[in-house]
Amino acid sequence: AKITYIGFDGEENVLDVENGRSVMQGAVSEGLRGIIGDCAGSCSCATCHVYVDPAWFDKLAEPSEMEAILLEEVCDPQPTSRLSCQITVSDALDGLVVRMPEKQV
Ligand code: FES
Repeated sequence: AKITYIGFDGEENVLDVENGRSVMQGAVSEGLRGIIGDCAGSCSCATCHVYVDPAWFDKLAEPSEMEAILLEEVCDPQPTSRLSCQITVSDALDGLVVRMPEKQV
């Protein structure tokens, strides 16, 4: 599915991320700045924080308790904040837009 990543500086990258991979993995495998993914997706580092475009936010599965706790610790959390390693790409998310924060934790 096509995922649009918008950097803090406004740079936009549209990547074709394979279904079943996470939004974090898609970014890291292309070396995009702005998403780090220190824990490789085990929901423990919060360095994959993104702001999901409001139009897409309700289409995502609810965050797990662990993700919700970690989200409270990210820099500058906003109502549509999510950890991108917990967003699994599927056809339903084709066109998803996420913005990267100024910095990760
Ligand atoms: Fe560590 Fe997402 S990659 S919490």
